[in-house]
Amino acid sequence: MMKLSETFPAFELHPEAHTRLLDKFQQVVARPEIGFFRHTLDKGAATAAKTTARRFAHKKLLVHVGIGGSALGPEMLISALGVTKGKRIQFLNNIDPDMLSRQMPEWSVEDTVFYVVSKSGTTAETWAALAIIVGWLEKQGVATANWTEHIVLCTDPHKGDLRLMAREHHLSCLDVPTAIGGRYSVLSDVGLFPAAWAGINVDQLMQGAEQMRPSLIATEAKANLLTRTALWIEQQHQQGRNLTVLMPYSSLLKDFTAWWVQLWAESLGKDGKGLTPIMAYGATDQHSQMQLFMQGPADKAMLMMNVEKHHQEYPLKNTLLLGSAKALAPFSLTQLMEAEFSGTLKALQEAKRPYAHLQIDEVNAATIGGLVLFFESLTVAVGCLLGVDPFNQPGVEAGKKYAQEWLSLHRP
Ligand code: PA5
Repeated sequence: MMKLSETFPAFELHPEAHTRLLDKFQQVVARPEIGFFRHTLDKGAATAAKTTARRFAHKKLLVHVGIGGSALGPEMLISALGVTKGKRIQFLNNIDPDMLSRQMPEWSVEDTVFYVVSKSGTTAETWAALAIIVGWLEKQGVATANWTEHIVLCTDPHKGDLRLMAREHHLSCLDVPTAIGGRYSVLSDVGLFPAAWAGINVDQLMQGAEQMRPSLIATEAKANLLTRTALWIEQQHQQGRNLTVLMPYSSLLKDFTAWWVQLWAESLGKDGKGLTPIMAYGATDQHSQMQLFMQGPADKAMLMMNVEKHHQEYPLKNTLLLGSAKALAPFSLTQLMEAEFSGTLKALQEAKRPYAHLQIDEVNAATIGGLVLFFESLTVAVGCLLGVDPFNQPGVEAGKKYAQEWLSLHRP
């Protein structure tokens, strides 16, 4: 599943620090208004998503509409785990007219279902997209009474304009549970519906999260992946390393790092505190940011992650005569990846750049579920250590408020 193989330099975990952090973490996630840690325990959590996915299984294109925590999780799931043959997903995750003008020509009344997600149910960017979608449906001659065949909503079960719209037009409406905030919501209907529609095994996703749980709550310090990683990050922070790099050696996990960037930045960056996330992926970024990580400012703690097994194996055996090709011939692509990863760890050690080495067995629904619960929990644990509330986002809210103010001041 996942393990913390080593840290460089070797990190000594104090049992009292572990117990203190574990207690604090457990108190936080037990609060009634904090739901993400309890959610995957609910065996029925994926039922509505699976039922709705079956109802819209005949559609060929799902257009996912949402922004921030309402989009990054589903995008990460789809890019890590793929979409079944014959189906496609578009992410309408911005209000960029140029992006929309590329996406829209692919829509068709018969084949497209629009999935509109907003926890608050009031986000301007999401409503703008919905306004355009509704206008497009009207133009295609779809009567309001038939929107039920084309639109699925997902929002807070009790409040917000999106919920009101669902009631008024009798639309399918899934839940972002009240106790789960946007960036912690990927394993709720927010991510589960598009995942189930795409053919991803959402039961395995949830089971993977549950398989991770024991290593997040283990009372024995050595067995606890969460407290060890969080306390290592805190130690790096105390030594002046305020930037965190997450670098999996997998293209499939590139969007996972984008999801984590939001989780880390929006949860931990407040009250003048925070750890700046940097996304990278190997081996590609060895030929890009790694130079900076290795020899630039010594202000980064690196989470280096490798994937033990890939779904395909490609031997590099070849008949080319030049030395560069001949040197690779006895190996496979996976072995070359291993060489690149190990080589980078060794070079980081030589450069005295600290890292924690995380390892997953392969990229599949179960490991992704586990990674999600691990990184959500890690964010909360680091929040406890920094003394910040990892669940609010006052800076984001201020921007939203002033955008609304601008709209009312400039009303034509
Ligand atoms: O994580 C968060 O809370 C935010 O990034 C929100 O997801 C984002 O602002 C979108 O909000 P909403 O889901 O209410 O439309």
